[in-house]
Amino acid sequence: MEYTSLGKTDVKVSRIGLGAWQFSEDWGLTEYQEARKIVSKAVEHGINFFDTAMVYGQGVSENILGKALNEIGVKRDQIIVSTKIPGEFLNPEDVYKSVNKSLEILGLKYIDVLLAHWPPCWHNYPTYKYARTMEKLVKMGLVNYLGLSDYPVELVESFRSSLASTDIEVFQIRYNLVERWAEEELIPYAEACKITVQAWSPIAKGALTGKYTLDNLPRFEDVRAGEPIFHPDNFTRIWPVIVKLKEIAEKYGKKPIQVALNWLIMSSPVIVPIPGAKNTQQVEELVDSVGWRMNYTDWLELEELSSRINILHSVFYLKYQKF
Ligand SMILES: NC(=O)c1ccc[n+]([C@@H]2O[C@H](COP(=O)([O-])OP(=O)(O)OC[C@H]3O[C@@H](n4cnc5c(N)ncnc54)[C@H](OP(=O)(O)O)[C@@H]3O)[C@@H](O)[C@H]2O)c1
Repeated sequence: MEYTSLGKTDVKVSRIGLGAWQFSEDWGLTEYQEARKIVSKAVEHGINFFDTAMVYGQGVSENILGKALNEIGVKRDQIIVSTKIPGEFLNPEDVYKSVNKSLEILGLKYIDVLLAHWPPCWHNYPTYKYARTMEKLVKMGLVNYLGLSDYPVELVESFRSSLASTDIEVFQIRYNLVERWAEEELIPYAEACKITVQAWSPIAKGALTGKYTLDNLPRFEDVRAGEPIFHPDNFTRIWPVIVKLKEIAEKYGKKPIQVALNWLIMSSPVIVPIPGAKNTQQVEELVDSVGWRMNYTDWLELEELSSRINILHSVFYLKYQKF
């Protein structure tokens, strides 16, 4: 496993983390023993950076992840757990109460990284107010570091300028080979300010594995059924990238998913992908995306092919028929 620094700190995090949203009804993995095997396999391979959130299964994901980490017996200072507080909980009373609950559910004495999951868009909580409330949790020792997820740069600046004695160390951004909007502002900002970027949906929710085709897209009960990336119009747009991933993967004796993640970590030193896994075999494959690098020519072919892609988010709306 490769390791990198967490933001400006000297804490070492694995170059690839593990997302735990999969441990919830959304993704259908709620059987504790199965989930525990996944966490255990990740630890065995040197992954020490785990991500969850209060909203993932309303506590189910936090509970499974925390219980597994405790039971596996890994030393507390050897793992870094990030969890996220939803935008609606960002008034002071909700912050204090929900973080307290999160600690109880996780079974941990402190949270390594607490991120605001998204900005409070339905309420008018002022940024300075919740920034200082979250900072207080750091002063109290309940949280080690702060982060922001799905925030635009303007709000990031406002949040940071409200802090008195700490700074943010982590961003969470949707970022993968075919969804690259983060490169416009957020990643350069993170590089300049030494902020670690946890790249979420780093394999485009499985689309970049090569196992889905136009005739075999996630459907019906699957949490991804309504995902624009799996809409046939968009999937057709990304298909040439999937074909290229397969071609490059074959050359290196790797899987398309490993090439896709390798491309991400090559693209910026601040990127730490946090893919989710549904079984131990997937963990083993994810781990093999680090510890090697594709050559520059292959990186560039993917760079050029994918930079032309735009995923359309209005696709479902555009198909609406009047009756
Ligand atoms: N901050 C945010 O707003 C936010 C939002 C979303 C997610 N996240 C975080 O990011 C994490 C990952 O993102 P994500 O869940 O959206 O999607 P993702 O990591 O891009 O895709 C995960 C899915 O890909 C498939 N997969 C994984 N490894 C594979 C392998 N080796 N071979 C074949 N298929 C494989 C699995 O689904 P199948 O096997 O069913 O295909 C898995 O559930 C989450 O767990 C969560 O912690 C954060």
